[in-house]
Amino acid sequence: MRAKIVAGNWKMNNNKDESKTLINELKNSLKDFSFNNTRVLVAPTFVNLSSLVKRANKSKIEVVAQNMHQAKNGAFTGEISADMLKNIGIKSVILGHSERRSYFGETDAILSEKVNTTLKNNMEAIFCFGELLEDRSSENHFKVVESQLKNGLFHLEASAWKNIVLAYEPVWAIGTGETASPQQAQEMHAFIRAIIKEKYNETLANNVSILYGGSVKPSNAEEIFSKPDVDGGLIGGAALNAQDFIAIIKAI
Ligand code: PGA
Repeated sequence: MRAKIVAGNWKMNNNKDESKTLINELKNSLKDFSFNNTRVLVAPTFVNLSSLVKRANKSKIEVVAQNMHQAKNGAFTGEISADMLKNIGIKSVILGHSERRSYFGETDAILSEKVNTTLKNNMEAIFCFGELLEDRSSENHFKVVESQLKNGLFHLEASAWKNIVLAYEPVWAIGTGETASPQQAQEMHAFIRAIIKEKYNETLANNVSILYGGSVKPSNAEEIFSKPDVDGGLIGGAALNAQDFIAIIKAI
């Protein structure tokens, strides 16, 4: 059975003290939460990863990275390698967030290399993708999503997919307050599962967790998560507030 996942992407927010307060609040509030098949992830900034890994120790909260460089090591000023992340206890990394794609020039080709590096290091990739508003307005959203998946992931062997989590995030819904309707999310998630089934097989398609991201909040989480092909969420703004994030986790 595929896992349900609620992941908080803190982006460039929370200094060391704020990170500590937030993780402690989350730990306390989740003490009696029955995780069962649910995973809870938080992605703080690089500088706070190490201390948060320690703080999350003995809780079920997983600390993950927001990004990673594709090279093994070398002259890449300002970048972080898979080995550095693994060495401090990080097992998963978010790749291809739309902010990485649009502000930092991450192309499908770069992302497919990042995916390869992640998997080679036995880490999990949380692969983000999604269409722009103009793609949806021109009814190209399915085409765009299909090509992002093909270019980023469809070179992989079937066996590699056990370490892949997908996060469909329509760019027009990220940080805008505008959310895809539960029907729009379900329609796209079902499409994604169908093209994975076509490329690989039904079992593999049914085992991949597909998260929705884009203005998920306590007031809309339950309805979005109730859709059969939506396996959780990648949460930005609402993950910065413990009460909101907990409410979203409890909606799963
Ligand atoms: P948002 O961000 O929840 O603030 O829209 C989602 C994301 O960027 O992953």
